[in-house]
Amino acid sequence: MNLEYTVTQSDNNNAPVMLVTGSAKRIGAAIVKAAHRQGYSVIIHCHQSEQEAQTLAAQLNHTRSHSAAVIVADLAVVEEPAALTAFVEEVINTFGQLDAVVHNASRFYPSPLGSIDHIQWNELFLTNAKAPLLLSQAFLPYLKKQQGCIISLLDIHAHDKPFLNYTVYNMAKAAHRMMVQSLALEMAPAVRVNGVAPGVNVLPEPDGDQALDNEQQQRIVRSIPMQRIGQPDEIAHSVLYLVDAKYVTGEIIAVDGGRSLTLAGSLV
Ligand SMILES: NC(=O)c1ccc[n+]([C@@H]2O[C@H](COP(=O)([O-])OP(=O)(O)OC[C@H]3O[C@@H](n4cnc5c(N)ncnc54)[C@H](OP(=O)(O)O)[C@@H]3O)[C@@H](O)[C@H]2O)c1
Repeated sequence: MNLEYTVTQSDNNNAPVMLVTGSAKRIGAAIVKAAHRQGYSVIIHCHQSEQEAQTLAAQLNHTRSHSAAVIVADLAVVEEPAALTAFVEEVINTFGQLDAVVHNASRFYPSPLGSIDHIQWNELFLTNAKAPLLLSQAFLPYLKKQQGCIISLLDIHAHDKPFLNYTVYNMAKAAHRMMVQSLALEMAPAVRVNGVAPGVNVLPEPDGDQALDNEQQQRIVRSIPMQRIGQPDEIAHSVLYLVDAKYVTGEIIAVDGGRSLTLAGSLV
């Protein structure tokens, strides 16, 4: 862990504070930028993508000084009580309060039957279920103080329509989805807990092992009633709506261009 930026007392006073896990790029970065535009001080959490996180923080601090900070940590910190406590303290000490936590960090890769092992189970459940739960529990006292909220990034495959060959990921997101509903009950009325379920909003990195070829992309687009891939900003918009919606808790909004209506439990 490595706090890259320390705010001073006079900076950006009274701004609400949002932590977005895994937010150096892609959907997380879009959420950070949208929250920042609305006046939030933002904590950009990252693991491997520190350079992207620092660049994003510098851009935001250029727009409004002392309004963005970077925290680098493997979410495996939740496995060790002392490391979890240190992470929580680092987050709270950054701006002195916490109003919203967005569980965005995720691992996403297939685990076809016959290949499933403990490593996949641990990796996919850590980011997609275990860390969100243990971080939510640890941040509760601080969120309570602010009448704050938690928003979880889920998936339209987290219930009813599994993604073929992604059993462990599907199971982890399903657990995360149930966390949203369970904690919404347990944390009310002080803290609201909601979720956003993207469909296909950002394609896998073109140079990564999950990259989709042109034909696969076209097949996905044809399966989406809105006839296009979604955009990270469209997820951010729903996250910010849920942050503002003071009478909404335990809700999960699909932001998928209608794709969940056509899903057959596979790529298309
Ligand atoms: N992309 C989509 O269309 C889509 C569809 C359905 C659901 N979702 C959900 O929406 C969210 C955002 O999607 P995305 O595609 O933008 O996410 P992503 O790029 O797959 O992952 C976001 C970040 O998670 C971080 N992360 C992974 N393992 C970590 C660990 N052990 N410790 C700390 N951070 C870790 C990574 O940070 P570093 O790079 O810093 O290591 C990564 O950049 C995810 O929860 C995803 O499941 C997305």
